[in-house]
Amino acid sequence: MLEPLVPPATIGMLGGGQLGRYALMAASAMGYRTIVLDPDPTAPAAVHANQHLVAPYDDPTALARLAAECDVITTEFENPPADALNLLAATTRVAPGSDAVAIAQDRILEKRFLADHGFPVGPFIALDETSDSPNDGHEHEHDARLAKIVSHGAVVKSARMGYDGKGQHRVSSVPMMHEAVDAMGGVAVVVESLLDLRTELSVLVARTVDGHIKTWPVAENMHVDGILDVSVVPARVDAALKARSVEMATAIAKALRYVGVLAVEIFVVADQHGEDTLLVNELAPRPHNSGHWTLDASVTSQFEQQVRAVCGVGLADTAMTAPAVAMVNLLGDLWFSAGAGTAPVEPNWASVLADPAATLHLYGKSEPRPARKMGHVTVTAATPDAAEQRARQLRMALSRPIQTS
Ligand SMILES: Nc1ncnc2c1ncn2[C@@H]1O[C@H](COP(=O)(O)OP(=O)(O)OP(=O)(O)O)[C@@H](O)[C@H]1O
Ligand SMILES: [Mg+2]
Repeated sequence: MLEPLVPPATIGMLGGGQLGRYALMAASAMGYRTIVLDPDPTAPAAVHANQHLVAPYDDPTALARLAAECDVITTEFENPPADALNLLAATTRVAPGSDAVAIAQDRILEKRFLADHGFPVGPFIALDETSDSPNDGHEHEHDARLAKIVSHGAVVKSARMGYDGKGQHRVSSVPMMHEAVDAMGGVAVVVESLLDLRTELSVLVARTVDGHIKTWPVAENMHVDGILDVSVVPARVDAALKARSVEMATAIAKALRYVGVLAVEIFVVADQHGEDTLLVNELAPRPHNSGHWTLDASVTSQFEQQVRAVCGVGLADTAMTAPAVAMVNLLGDLWFSAGAGTAPVEPNWASVLADPAATLHLYGKSEPRPARKMGHVTVTAATPDAAEQRARQLRMALSRPIQTS
């Protein structure tokens, strides 16, 4: 049994983006000491850490310092080098473990893990040097399957390092697919059937090393250009579908022997009888953008729960504190509502701040860039529809000129 780590124990964080920022805020509010490793001197989490190690994620000196000074180390992004996690794990508690992170950071391993454990995934073909080898006597079968998937419309996704829809190309023929793979530099990819999505859901699961699990109400997610745009909770789908989503996400966390907060992204599609059915899209081995609402409308946020889970101190209540909540992301585009190429203009925050049901979150990123996540707004309301409508209205008002009298 691992000892629970109580304050003032030291928590290390690989990655200093907005997810790390909120986790470190939660940790320091609880009295933990924190150290963040991020090569960017302006990393959003740095101002909330007791120490910021400005170094690459594989820097031996920085890793040695983290290992020596931290009681437990966690991460906020899916791409920490596996070697770094293994090095840290040799002497220090690391959660989630490198096995689980290695699976979640590689779409090919992730899809195979899910399929091998009986979790439903959409039709896909992995193209890398080890998979579906064209020299195994099944070339013809393989090529025919690939042609079939691609001809109905497919998405080519780089196996590693993709996020916010980066590293993805839609294709409708085999030559187009090869072009897309070449454009990505010949990296390993998965080719997925382009699905007709009825809706998208996500489930956040927190699990401790001794197997305690908590989940939050299911979120309904809307994406624009591959980037999360709006999340609404509770999701407006049938209760049985939500129950199945939670069951599936919980089973995935158990199968991975996951420790920390795991996000499971789920597609809802029609089965051959026209009924709603679930497919797992992908896993994120960390708190997730679709769980940001928990900061404002849950007894315990996903970030506090991450701290609790990795420290093994017991998980807290995940009940909602409002009947419904919606979250809208604020991308850097908002600063450029006058048009591309113009100088960035600070959005009119006063309108959001004037609404008592809304909460404004800005991540402290110095430079707004199109498609860059700069912050989000959450709104609580009596119903999911009302919350969504108000959140969208408030975001629209942000790009209106500030009234000067
Ligand atoms: N096979 C598919 N069929 C239909 N839509 C898809 C498919 N794959 C992805 N999408 C759409 O693109 C979005 C982003 O895809 P995905 O989750 O794979 O990308 P990502 O870059 O890892 O994004 P993130 O890390 O922000 O979740 C999905 O949420 C969905 O809206
Ligand atoms: Mg995704």
